[in-house]
Amino acid sequence: MKKNKKILVGGGAGYIGAQLVPLLVDAGYEVEVIDLLWFGNHLPSNIKVTKKDLFECTQADMAGFNAFIFLAGLSNDPMAEHSPSKNFIFNAALPSYLAYTAKRAGVKRFIYASSCSVYGYTEDKVFDEESPASSNYPYGLSKLQGERGALELQDEHFSVISLRQGTVCGYSKRMRMDLIVNAMYKTAMVDEKITVNNPDIWRPIYDIRDCAQAFLLALEAPEDLSGIFNVSSGNYTVGDVGERVRQRVEKLSDKKIDLEIKHVADMRNYKVSTTKAETVLGFRPVHSVEDIVASLHEHQGDMGNLNQDNYYNIRIFKEIAKREELRNKRLSEIDDFKY
Ligand SMILES: NC(=O)c1ccc[n+]([C@@H]2O[C@H](COP(=O)([O-])OP(=O)(O)OC[C@H]3O[C@@H](n4cnc5c(N)ncnc54)[C@H](O)[C@@H]3O)[C@@H](O)[C@H]2O)c1
Repeated sequence: MKKNKKILVGGGAGYIGAQLVPLLVDAGYEVEVIDLLWFGNHLPSNIKVTKKDLFECTQADMAGFNAFIFLAGLSNDPMAEHSPSKNFIFNAALPSYLAYTAKRAGVKRFIYASSCSVYGYTEDKVFDEESPASSNYPYGLSKLQGERGALELQDEHFSVISLRQGTVCGYSKRMRMDLIVNAMYKTAMVDEKITVNNPDIWRPIYDIRDCAQAFLLALEAPEDLSGIFNVSSGNYTVGDVGERVRQRVEKLSDKKIDLEIKHVADMRNYKVSTTKAETVLGFRPVHSVEDIVASLHEHQGDMGNLNQDNYYNIRIFKEIAKREELRNKRLSEIDDFKY
């Protein structure tokens, strides 16, 4: 796909969007964002951002765009566990609806932010895109359903690319501290301690800069390309991540970090092959866990209080849910009064 094309990013004001959207603009794309702004708007002021629920996005809103990038929905397990019904609505139904609307509006490409969590709990094997996806938990299940809903619509005129991402980590202007490396960095800096809940499970770790590059490659892939691609910067055990974060923080600061190892059962354990993305999209991840820590440390001053609520999706999500409940209660009281 050529540059100077119009891209609409749904959920583009979130953690990944705040890194990706400026990169797309720098690469010559004209970018607009639709987002509910749950975590505020941290995008540059020259980006057109419309505050709106993507369920209200119509064909008219999508007309004239060449590609739609889906970055919305509930983006981790705690949110999904807190509200399983909303999770399936936002993560499974919403991408299906948006891919349908985009296709009818003449948008040529739909790029879906999927997750390697679709693989669930696997045994000691590297999973590729042909391996069974079998999560038993709301988040992983809903990400798979959203992916399938969008991919159902692919044809020679409508490309659907699903990027199954590892756990994205690193600095973004819309910061999250509930992602493994970021969380370990925070406790190392604040409490001089890192807790590893299960050292032996595997996680693909994905530097947010590699992540943004993959979306760019997906946009620029041949127009008739569709499919699923695993994308990550590398596979690590959680114990290895903890040790690497500990060593790097000690090197960058004057702190002595305590590493606490526990053995808590986990619902996710997977390592993935990114060979298909490398071969077909030209994906070349270049960052390591150490790079992620270095980048977080470099932005220490920009991040401020590492424990602020806005850095934890579940805290904000619970607040929003409480406000919605209150509003619905008030509306039903008005109805009771009327009749
Ligand atoms: N961050 C990761 O490690 C990771 C890994 C794999 C996949 N993903 C997927 O990537 C996407 C982006 O992740 P993120 O970390 O940037 O999440 P995020 O929670 O920081 O951002 C999500 C954004 O979507 C918006 N949003 C949610 N539902 C919406 C709706 N109905 N209408 C309009 N806006 C809506 C929110 O306001 C928020 O700005 C998500 O789909 C997530 O599931 C993320």
